[in-house]
Amino acid sequence: MSIFGVLGFVLFGASVVAGSFSSPPAELYSALVAEKIRTTALVPPNPMQYPQYTDRTVGEWLYFSPDTWTTGFFPATLYAMYERAKYCHWEADNVSEWLTLGRQWGSAEIPLETNNTLQHDVGFVSYPFIAELEVDPGNQTAITAVNQFAADLAARFNPTVGCTRSWDTPNPVDFEVIMDNMMNLELFFVSEALTGNRTFVDMAISHANKTMQHHVRPDGSSFHVVEYNATSGDVIARFTAQGYSNSSTWSRGQAWGIYGFANSTAIDAPTVYMHTHIFDYLETSRHMASYFLAHLPDDGVVPWDFNAPLTPPRPADSSAAMVAANGLILLAQQEASLIPSNTTGYSYYIEAAVELLRANIELAWRPSWQSLLANGTVNNPEHNNLTGIVYGDYYFVKAGNELLNMNITAC
Ligand code: GLY
Repeated sequence: MSIFGVLGFVLFGASVVAGSFSSPPAELYSALVAEKIRTTALVPPNPMQYPQYTDRTVGEWLYFSPDTWTTGFFPATLYAMYERAKYCHWEADNVSEWLTLGRQWGSAEIPLETNNTLQHDVGFVSYPFIAELEVDPGNQTAITAVNQFAADLAARFNPTVGCTRSWDTPNPVDFEVIMDNMMNLELFFVSEALTGNRTFVDMAISHANKTMQHHVRPDGSSFHVVEYNATSGDVIARFTAQGYSNSSTWSRGQAWGIYGFANSTAIDAPTVYMHTHIFDYLETSRHMASYFLAHLPDDGVVPWDFNAPLTPPRPADSSAAMVAANGLILLAQQEASLIPSNTTGYSYYIEAAVELLRANIELAWRPSWQSLLANGTVNNPEHNNLTGIVYGDYYFVKAGNELLNMNITAC
């Protein structure tokens, strides 16, 4: 949960009466979770590289240079394990080891914030620094990194379009924005909290409003990419890059949207800034969640794209399932934070999240692999599927933590 998500829940969630829920899958709290992550963490490559996805047969991590969009997820997982160690009252040495490992892997990203080719993906790589600020709000390295990454993102904002640019294009008039970019907005809000720079908040709100307007279809499904004319701001095309077709719904994009809009609701709430947007974002997240849940197959396993043909079998995407589960949990927290609390909505989204976790972990849990989960799809058009994925594992750990934090379950 973001700094602001925590605030939103703590400030307004007190009136929620803890309910009785289905038990989350036991794998979320298996001893193997800590064991595997620790084993990977204790042998950082030299020079530093970061795990992104695994091979398809034995599940060994493939490592990539720090200047890669997924770099932040493994260090952020280590910080999440530090949080887990505290929730579960593990021994003090063990607690501090997770923090040491998180700091070691996170600080090795430096100086990525001043020299990268990440384009819009600075949001994900900032996660370890945002996590560090939750531990030590005065950590100057983390403050500088967050502010610099936010400045990188702000430099991609076009006021005529009203969005930050996702990908660079051969013709700069073609201004492409992907649904995934909703996940970056937290970076703007965290930086604004550090510096008071309201411009970043205005950019985040503008980006979310445009995405709500142009990416989300009337039935709650979503386009992956919207291309604007950078000069006029007009929408000139809608298409997919990682999905099945231009009119289909790529499941991870849909999951980023559920989470991103629920998180924009969360980060808006404590500042009571642009108050009217809270309900628009909440409603958009609900609508996207509703599409996601209604289009799951009977076994509850998330396909890589909701419209991909069933034959030949659609590869699953356990990472989309984990992102969506976190989006549903965040949505539940927002329902709880309403005044008065929407307890029905809270219970509905918790149950939906637990069921999504159950169905997808049952398929994807791989004790013998280095990753926690298999059955992830990095990029199906490039035939990169059926692997472990570092962000699938990160959102797996995070979902487990949130359920502990909310007293849905215990260690
Ligand atoms: N943001 C890239 C992806 O979800 O694959």
